[in-house]
Amino acid sequence: MNFIKVASLSEFPEDSSKIVQLKNSKVVLFHFNGKITAIGNACLHKGGPLGLGCVENKYDGTYVTCPWHGWEYNIETGKAPFDYKDQQSVYQIKIDGDAILISEEPIVKAKKATHDLSALEDLIHLKYQTTASSLNILGISTTNMNDNLARFSTSEDALEKALAYASEKYGAQTKMIKLRQLKFRHCEGYYSQHMNACTWPCSITEMNPKDGMTQLYRDMVLWADVVLLATPIRWGNPSSLYYKMAERLNTVQNQITLKKKILIKNKVAAFIITGGQDNIQSVAGQLMWFFTDLGFIFPPFSFVGWSRGWTAEDMDKNVMQFKKSDYIKRTTEEMVDNCIETLSQIKNINSVKIIAPKPHRQDSLSADIENPDMNI
Ligand code: FES
Repeated sequence: MNFIKVASLSEFPEDSSKIVQLKNSKVVLFHFNGKITAIGNACLHKGGPLGLGCVENKYDGTYVTCPWHGWEYNIETGKAPFDYKDQQSVYQIKIDGDAILISEEPIVKAKKATHDLSALEDLIHLKYQTTASSLNILGISTTNMNDNLARFSTSEDALEKALAYASEKYGAQTKMIKLRQLKFRHCEGYYSQHMNACTWPCSITEMNPKDGMTQLYRDMVLWADVVLLATPIRWGNPSSLYYKMAERLNTVQNQITLKKKILIKNKVAAFIITGGQDNIQSVAGQLMWFFTDLGFIFPPFSFVGWSRGWTAEDMDKNVMQFKKSDYIKRTTEEMVDNCIETLSQIKNINSVKIIAPKPHRQDSLSADIENPDMNI
């Protein structure tokens, strides 16, 4: 077996890691517990750089945690902990004076175990439930409240009325998701480490298919023809739960940017925005921008707004006035009519021909600079 010098002992202090190039692949050297070890740098999950991961003594040895989504490997044996069967490649080390040499080939080959993703089969393979004649309307209520101390929500009430109207007048299939009842993790910003770290389905969903966003992905991407989103106005913005959901929708939008894959096709979105005071147009603008980036199409007059103006501090009268309003009932119905009319027009657009005018990887000002730590 040939050995190749890859580093100097004097420049590789204890408690550190170092990524080195070995022919066409990258290997990470570890110097922990008075010993130098080497395993493949590319995480078996999605290729994250293990050399940038955190190294800790835990379980039955010393493990590196992949900085992208947290897979772990023993830095000496390359094995995943517990009963996971993943095996990272392991290289033999020789020390010759100050030189650190590693074997040209791994002495243990990498092997990615089979991970059961059958619970996400429909999302992975994009098994759409929409058909040429389906009329599936998904309501997403983003208001936050303690359900044990339930109160009247203007946005949710208008959304319920919109769904009931769509069902009665058009025979639509309807579903309502109340975000506050979905238990889901925040987006943890994998994308900010590397574009390939943001995956479809979302890595959080992959780690835990029971995460609440799995249902939302399924209903929004695969099932819905129309999405009606209702939000209260909180300090001039949509609700914080809306943002929590929007961040987890990076996984949908990034497929367009990174893979030129448009997941949301021939679907319509519209919004119900209510607040005691003002800023409806600003909220509508934010929602429209994001939803168009996801691939949605809007009907004419794509939002219903309700507010009583900046000076309306008598919030106790908001609900009274809302309940008495014919305006809300009429305009939510008109919004539903417009959505369904628009849907009938766009149902059969040949979405294969839709091109998203996104920046591509090569458009970046640093496109020609190589990042020596990355494997891909
Ligand atoms: S955990 Fe390493 S790439 Fe996902």
